[in-house]
Amino acid sequence: MSNTASRSRRGAFYTPALSADMLAGLLRVGDSDRVLEPAAGDGALIEALLGRGVRPEQITAWELDPDTCAELGRRYPGITVEQRDALLSVDPARWPRFDRIIANPPYLSKQSHYVRANRDALRRRFSAIGSSETYAMFLDLCLSLLAPKGCLAFLVSDTIRTLRSHERLRARILADYRLEAVVAMPERLFTGASVRTCMLSVSRGSSGTVRVLPHARTETDYSDPASWGELTQASLRDLPGRPLATVLPTGVEALLREGQPLGELARSHIGMHTTDNAVSLAALAGSSMARTYERRRESEGGDPARWRVIEAGVAAGAGWRPYLRQGGVRDFAAPIEEFVDWSPAARANYKGAGGALFGEPGVAVSGVASRLSARLMDAGSLWDSNKALGVVAHRAEDRLLILGLLCSDLYAFIAKALLNDSPSIQLSDLLSLRIPIHGREEIRRACAGCVAAVSDPPALGRARAELDEAVYAAARITPADRAVINGWLGARGIGR
Ligand SMILES: C[S@@+](CC[C@H](N)C(=O)[O-])C[C@H]1O[C@@H](n2cnc3c(N)ncnc32)[C@H](O)[C@@H]1O
Repeated sequence: MSNTASRSRRGAFYTPALSADMLAGLLRVGDSDRVLEPAAGDGALIEALLGRGVRPEQITAWELDPDTCAELGRRYPGITVEQRDALLSVDPARWPRFDRIIANPPYLSKQSHYVRANRDALRRRFSAIGSSETYAMFLDLCLSLLAPKGCLAFLVSDTIRTLRSHERLRARILADYRLEAVVAMPERLFTGASVRTCMLSVSRGSSGTVRVLPHARTETDYSDPASWGELTQASLRDLPGRPLATVLPTGVEALLREGQPLGELARSHIGMHTTDNAVSLAALAGSSMARTYERRRESEGGDPARWRVIEAGVAAGAGWRPYLRQGGVRDFAAPIEEFVDWSPAARANYKGAGGALFGEPGVAVSGVASRLSARLMDAGSLWDSNKALGVVAHRAEDRLLILGLLCSDLYAFIAKALLNDSPSIQLSDLLSLRIPIHGREEIRRACAGCVAAVSDPPALGRARAELDEAVYAAARITPADRAVINGWLGARGIGR
């Protein structure tokens, strides 16, 4: 196996110097502290510790790869290097404790070779956290290895802060440890990997104030006091899903606790899968999608049964249903350009029972988009399970309420900052959104204005501003908190 292939199989992406130094600085290592680096790689974090005056004899480095271990030993004489699989060879119940632990562990998912090859053993060891990502398992292990008054600093995938699959691990941290600091790291921190990351610093101790850096644009932001803020650990512990938020305006906190769950207002469903779009779908003649279909058909040999284009009269017949196959940000309403073959023979091949849901008019929410985005769907419409989620309000008048909320800045913030900071939102995230009790009529009215203005950009801009205003007012979000929310959306490049 090539060196690059071997590194990517082990999840070996090394920490840049300024970030390594920030992690080492947060640990405040004392003269007699025993320090562990459990996934040492080429020693970026060890270099940072030594640079801050930690003695080599204080440091123990674990690393899976034998060649990397040999190199570490040569490069850092005096440190203890042990070649081991940290996740499989260390039983925390019998292992000596460490005063400080610093890590940027491998980010390997359940699809990785390593996790698949060791699935049963990993499951036995880490069943309590219910996650199969290696960074979560390293964090769980190292929490257990901390000495009394011990502290750790971890650089991990940012999904740890919000994804439901990590809720049990977050609950463990928030209930039994002190969360000292959370930093949303700059984008593209690692050469060759696009993963978004965060730094968590956690100690043994009772909960208190959490130092937060909500959005580091570059590594130099770490040393700028103006970039940092504070919130309390108790406020995070009580939130649904227990997100490790970096921004938590008071009004949002109240809404998340007291609002009505969306799940009480609507039914929802993931979509369907045709198993072969080329034969099951057709584009509407004259639409931009029709040109795409024609190009595809030509490039695949011109078979008339594939990538069909149908006239509006045919599309409106019983044999076809409107179909949504585009995620992305498209708010309020969008013309349907694709249709799915609804003949009994074709339907026999489809997977997923999504077909029943939009028997009544509903709202489709993009499953993959930079920000929360929803649009109206007519009765009888269907949608692709990879691209959208469907919601139908129990009461017809709540359709515009739900649509308006899902397209607002406030809910874009709640979804990304607190529910699921990944490009793909889940049904469970949607259903757990909380709806304000007051001001619903104003939101409905403002949303109707947006739908009416959807093809007139200046009018839509004005209608959108009214909608945001109505949503903020309904949720009792103060102007100061709005500024924080808009700042966060802007820094993430998803503001309006
Ligand atoms: C993301 S790299 C980080 C290296 C270094 N800590 C840094 O920050 O630059 C993760 C390292 O963990 C090693 N590794 C992967 N799985 C491991 C395991 N189960 N036990 C110990 N080390 C492992 C990889 O070989 C790789 O060198």
